[in-house]
Amino acid sequence: MIDSHGRTINYLRLSITDRCNLRCQYCMPEDGIQQIQSEEILSYEDFLKIVSAATKLGIKKVRITGGEPLVRKGILGFLERLAAVPGVEEIALTTNGVLLPKFAHDLKAIGIERLNISIDSLIPENFAKITRCGNLQNVLDGITAADEAGMKIKLNVVAMRGVNDQEIVDFAAMSITKPWSIRFIEYMPTIRDKEWRQYLITGKEILESIESRFQLMPISSGCYCGPAKPYQIAGAKGTVGIITPMSEHFCNTCNRIRVTSDGQVKSCLFSDRAYDLKPYLSADDSTIYEVLQDVILNKPPRHHMDSESTMPAPFTMAKVGG
Ligand code: 5AD
Ligand code: SF4
Repeated sequence: MIDSHGRTINYLRLSITDRCNLRCQYCMPEDGIQQIQSEEILSYEDFLKIVSAATKLGIKKVRITGGEPLVRKGILGFLERLAAVPGVEEIALTTNGVLLPKFAHDLKAIGIERLNISIDSLIPENFAKITRCGNLQNVLDGITAADEAGMKIKLNVVAMRGVNDQEIVDFAAMSITKPWSIRFIEYMPTIRDKEWRQYLITGKEILESIESRFQLMPISSGCYCGPAKPYQIAGAKGTVGIITPMSEHFCNTCNRIRVTSDGQVKSCLFSDRAYDLKPYLSADDSTIYEVLQDVILNKPPRHHMDSESTMPAPFTMAKVGG
């Protein structure tokens, strides 16, 4: 369906759990998050109902996020049923990769072709520090498992000054030998830590740092780039993408809506406005359809994360889904 600002909305992101087996610094405050009560979390049945209504509004692609989606029990059975919903043309998954050695093969067998894997450091100690508890090797093994299963891989790297800026070139170099897309994301102050400004490395700076080592060519955006501006190092098998939610918002081409694990629909990641779908889940499908339609019609034209006065209340990506 087309929203009030002429954007075609065809992409739904479902955060199926707020639980995660990592504690990334930029995602959660040090003392953790107030978890959603388990009885508030939607059942897989509820999610399928929502997706079914959404396809009737033109949703074709569904991305499963979290928290960490692979920690939720029964995920494979859910994905199988999701793939069978008429109108769902593509299912993708965003994961921190830790559980991929266990799941990659089955995910591919179900028909999940595309994975976004978050990885912010290639140095074990630095990775452990950023994730507060993670073991880099698990993620590297996960990436290998997904690669061997024949999945198309994008690596998401949140660029942070003084944290992993010295690794940007090494990440970009991975695209030379692997057919992966290495995507750098500007740090967003979602949890509003006091020093957030000092962490932000703009897309322009990220490009400059890669170009200090490699010749980088802009390439035309295929339909799967999403908000990333794609580039390629000369002769590389893969690509490099730059995602600039802070320095250059891409709201004018935004095609998505989100549903959180407790059934809140959000038409913008950065909007404080959410519609609670829970009261409608026991009603017939046409009611869910109408609520989703309303959400799409009221999708704001753009976010205002760039100004302190108009920033949304702090939130964790684990709750809303990245
Ligand atoms: N800034 C930038 N990216 C973030 N992500 C989570 N929180 C933030 C943030 N504050 C990213 C994760 C993951 C994706 C879903 O969103 O690293 O790759
Ligand atoms: Fe977990 Fe992703 Fe948040 Fe890291 S960013 S704590 S992997 S949900």
